[in-house]
Amino acid sequence: MPELSFEAKGQWRPMAAADLPGVLAVADRVHPAFPEDGAVFEERLRLYPAGCLAFSSGADVLGYAVSHPWRAFDPPALNARLGELSRRSDTYYIHDVALLPELRGSGAAALVVALLIARARKEGFATVSLVAVNGSAGFWAHHGFHDVAARKVVDAALARKLRGYDDAAAFMVRTL
Ligand SMILES: CC(C)(COP(=O)(O)OP(=O)(O)OC[C@H]1O[C@@H](n2cnc3c(N)ncnc32)[C@H](O)[C@@H]1OP(=O)(O)O)[C@@H](O)C(=O)NCCC(=O)NCCS
Repeated sequence: MPELSFEAKGQWRPMAAADLPGVLAVADRVHPAFPEDGAVFEERLRLYPAGCLAFSSGADVLGYAVSHPWRAFDPPALNARLGELSRRSDTYYIHDVALLPELRGSGAAALVVALLIARARKEGFATVSLVAVNGSAGFWAHHGFHDVAARKVVDAALARKLRGYDDAAAFMVRTL
């Protein structure tokens, strides 16, 4: 059981453009090995605001989630803008969930995953996909995601994309 639940630290709410500096500050701290430009976050918030959430206590952003509909087995490259959402979207893609260390173990991560899954269901998607980095595959497995490469169905193009993240990146899918 978490020692202090996330309710004591703030709450998840829709991300606003004014949150972007705080979101980037979290990303810089949490993902030093996977840097992404502010323009990448700004574009995803603009293209699919319903998939972008911020965890905040007052003005401070302590965590964020970014997600959007996308093409199955074709994850966007790291630090790449999308241009537009694909008309052929056939999976709900979780680009990132990131919490500052002080928010981890609080239950905030499980809640936001549940919120993203609910959004995917509401949009009628049969799967949710993501690229797991930072040793997070165990966390995602805990939430029902399976490592597709481990099932040996990953193709060469997808394998190349994953190496653009790092050698340990795993493409994971949850069937709804
Ligand atoms: C990934 C992240 C969002 C998870 O949030 P968290 O608060 O640390 O996770 P939780 O404590 O809620 O863990 C939930 C469960 O998953 C398990 N878990 C967490 N990380 C795990 C891991 N690396 N391996 C196996 N299980 C893990 C926990 O044991 C916990 O299980 P329990 O409910 O039975 O106790 C957070 O650690 C984070 O922001 N990490 C840095 C950013 C990142 O890597 N994001 C993922 C990018 S794809």
